[in-house]
Amino acid sequence: MTTYHIAPSILSADFARLGEEVRNVVSAGADIIHFDVMDNHYVPNLTIGPLVCAAIRPHVQVPIDVHLMVKPVDRIIPDFAKAGANIISFHPEASEHIDRTLQLIRDHGCKAGLVFNPGTSLQFLEHVMDKIDLILIMSVNPGFGGQSFIPEALKKIAAARRLIDDSGRDILLEVDGGIKIDNIAAAARAGADTFVAGSAIFGKPDYKGVIDAMRAELAS
Ligand code: DX5
Ligand code: ZN
Repeated sequence: MTTYHIAPSILSADFARLGEEVRNVVSAGADIIHFDVMDNHYVPNLTIGPLVCAAIRPHVQVPIDVHLMVKPVDRIIPDFAKAGANIISFHPEASEHIDRTLQLIRDHGCKAGLVFNPGTSLQFLEHVMDKIDLILIMSVNPGFGGQSFIPEALKKIAAARRLIDDSGRDILLEVDGGIKIDNIAAAARAGADTFVAGSAIFGKPDYKGVIDAMRAELAS
């Protein structure tokens, strides 16, 4: 049976109360904290960096999943590893040397992931499947929370699931963007096992209510 992971994106949390927010969402049942890093260069928005990652680290025991939307990638990786990140993923277009960046992440003791924008082909995976711990399929164009799910992503999730099954390796398949109670089951049926949700969770007062409803959809 598939183990599903709910990964709230703190992009939609109240940044003035971030420690409390991450504690509350983990108490509400979150399995992973998704941490969106944007640089106003690779994507047209600017968010948070290693200092904030280190600040929330003592507040939660669950893995911190750092989604780097930055270019260049490599020089920031050691700082996130030191700040307590468990998973670090990046966009292949943002790295000059994908294999080297994956190795750098692993050398720093973190799990490594590759992220695919709606318009990016999965072909970047072909020669690096043995160095990947997570594949992240974007179901919106990166840069902002609160966008609508792009249905075409379901086909890409299914294609990534086939690649993972063929590899025989234990690789998480995460989907990010526009995930809500009413579409999480479709993403799971396509093959995803890890679900990022920002506005769907932090946009409601009852985090547990949303996470429980998502789990009920996944069990249906
Ligand atoms: C978008 C980010 C997402 C975002 C998801 O670039 O990578 O993680 O926070 O937010 P929602 O769930 O609101 O689409
Ligand atoms: Zn993200």
